[in-house]
Amino acid sequence: MARKFNRKRRPPKLPRSTPDGEHRSVLRDEVLKVLDPKPGMVIVDATLGFAGHAFAILERLGPTGLLIATDLDTGSIPKATETLETLRYPFQVFHANFAGLPGVLAQAGVMQVDGVLADLGMSSMQVDDPARGFSYMRDGPLDMRMDRSRGRTAAEFVNESTFDELAGAFTEFGDEPNAATIAAAIVLERSERPFETTKQLRATIDLAAPVELRLGPGYPPVHKQKLLPATRVFQALRIAVNRELANLTQLLRVLPSLLKPGGTAAIISFHSGEDRLVKTTFRDARRMGVYAAASGDPIRPSEEEKLANPRSRSAKLRWARLPRIDEVVPTPEIED
Ligand SMILES: C[S@@+](CC[C@H](N)C(=O)[O-])C[C@H]1O[C@@H](n2cnc3c(N)ncnc32)[C@H](O)[C@@H]1O
Repeated sequence: MARKFNRKRRPPKLPRSTPDGEHRSVLRDEVLKVLDPKPGMVIVDATLGFAGHAFAILERLGPTGLLIATDLDTGSIPKATETLETLRYPFQVFHANFAGLPGVLAQAGVMQVDGVLADLGMSSMQVDDPARGFSYMRDGPLDMRMDRSRGRTAAEFVNESTFDELAGAFTEFGDEPNAATIAAAIVLERSERPFETTKQLRATIDLAAPVELRLGPGYPPVHKQKLLPATRVFQALRIAVNRELANLTQLLRVLPSLLKPGGTAAIISFHSGEDRLVKTTFRDARRMGVYAAASGDPIRPSEEEKLANPRSRSAKLRWARLPRIDEVVPTPEIED
C-alpha cells in the first residue's frame, strides 16, 4: 500500500490528549526534538501505529519531504493512512516488518534517509481489542500476533512449546521469578484442555503464582508485587510470538547503512531487554566510530506525561547520529 500526495493545505492540529481507548503517542515532543524533521527530508516511521508520531513528523516535512512508514498490523493501517492523508504531503505506507527495512526503502525508491523512528511494542488500540488476545484483562482468543497474516499464535506457542521453552521465555522476556512454576502449571493444564483463551491462561497463572493474600475487607494486601505475574507472562508471550528481540536486533544491524550522513535513529522501548539491546548497540557502534554521537542516559517521559498517559511510564528513548559529511569523529575509544 503506497500513497503520495503533493497538494498543499493548512494542516489540522493534532489533539494533545486523546479520549480513553485511543492511542496516545509517547514522548512525541522529545522524538521531534531528536529527529528534527525539516522540509525536504526523508524520514521513516518504522512503527506507524495510529500515526501519532508520523503525523507530527509529516507536518514538519511539508510538501517537499517524504515520510515512509511501516507497520506489521494491517488493522491500524487504513485509519493511520486516513489521518496522514489530511495533511496532503507526500508519504508512503507499507505493511511490512521493520526488520526488512532495506527492502521497503528499495520499494519506495529511496537509498538513504535522514531519520528513522521505532516506537516499539504495541499500541493501546491493539491492547484494548479483546479479539487480539494481548490483554489478560479482557477475555478473547489467545492470539497476540501483530501480523495476523502469518506466524504462530500465542495459543499455539503455549500448547506446543516444551516446559524449558516456556520457562525460558517467561524468564528472558518477562523477568518472571516464578517462571518454572507457571510453566509447569501450563504443561499440566494443557494435558487436560489445550489453551484457547486469555481468561484460561490468566486463571492458570493466578493459581500457579498468587499475587496477594487479603486477610479480609479493609486489610492491605500481603506480598503485593509491583507487576502481576500475568502482566509479565503476557508480555513475555507477546515478545516471543512476534520475535520482537530478533526483529529489533536486525533493525539495529541495518540502521547505519540506511541513514544519510548526519542521519539520526531514535528508538523508544518499553522493556528492559529491548532497552539494553538498543543501549549497547548504539554505544558499541559509537565507540567504533560508526555513529558520531549517541544518547547517554535515556530520555524519559515527564511526570505530566506519565500522569496523563500511564502507559508511557516505562518508556525510554535512545538515539544515535551518523557523522555529518564534514564532521571529524574522534578516534574510537578502545576498551579492555
Ligand atoms: C507503540 S505502537 C506505535 C504507535 C505510533 N508511534 C503512534 O504514535 O501512533 C507500535 C506499533 O508498531 C507495530 N510493530 C511492532 N513490531 C513491528 C515490526 N517488527 N515491524 C513493523 N511494525 C511493528 C505494532 O503493530 C504497533 O502498531
